[in-house]
Amino acid sequence: MSRYLALVPAAGVGSRFGAGRPKQYVEIDGRSVLEHTLRRLLAEPQIERVAVVVSPQDGYYAQAVRLPENLAARVTWLRCGGESRADSVFNGLNALLAQGLARPDDCILVHDAARCCLPRSALRRLLDQAGGHPAGGILALPVADTLKRAGAGSAIAATVSRKGLWQAQTPQLFRADLLQRALSHTDFADITDEASAVERLGVQPLLVAGDSRNLKMTLPQDEYIVRLLLAAEQAT
Ligand code: CTP
Ligand code: MG
Repeated sequence: MSRYLALVPAAGVGSRFGAGRPKQYVEIDGRSVLEHTLRRLLAEPQIERVAVVVSPQDGYYAQAVRLPENLAARVTWLRCGGESRADSVFNGLNALLAQGLARPDDCILVHDAARCCLPRSALRRLLDQAGGHPAGGILALPVADTLKRAGAGSAIAATVSRKGLWQAQTPQLFRADLLQRALSHTDFADITDEASAVERLGVQPLLVAGDSRNLKMTLPQDEYIVRLLLAAEQAT
């Protein structure tokens, strides 16, 4: 049976969030965003190990993540972040395979450091529905809003049907060998998730129902929602 390993790209600078430090190191409710994210993945016993890809220049991570010994023992820090998210994921995956920490038939769950409210139920759904699937799968949500295509001067050029359209989230789960092959065959410039690289091989990963609480902290106003979500969880 293949094992589950998580790979967390955390080498971004958070330019849209604009906090004066990378957004994964912003503190919310006494813990950094990255620590919240790691605790959620580590709370799932089927995930054997969580590898975190940070930038080689990262001066924050050692202070920003405080885990009890039993959880820290399942975390591997990789200081091989790259220029783009896809570079960071590819470098991290290659390091895991080269160090023998991952095997080609392991299932890798790539999860954004900035998605720190991942519900346990959504993670379980992904493992249950895509874990045994050769093409893997991703969490995603059917588009809820009406879609407009912008024309000149920000005027509406057209209304686009949302039928059949989904918004991709993470985790995105693939066998390590498939993910490595997909990323080594692609130009990273136009890649914003792993599934799109896998799709280019002609492989069709599954869409598994995600959760609106699994938002990616991207803009400053997202911090407000994350605080509310974490507080609401503590209250229940
Ligand atoms: N990421 C990474 N390496 C990069 C760029 C991004 O590991 N070179 C990570 C981020 O740390 C984040 C995830 O990929 O956990 C999703 O990226 P995004 O939300 O775009 O984060 P940033 O790139 O940091 O933000 P921005 O695009 O606003 O600068
Ligand atoms: Mg980015």
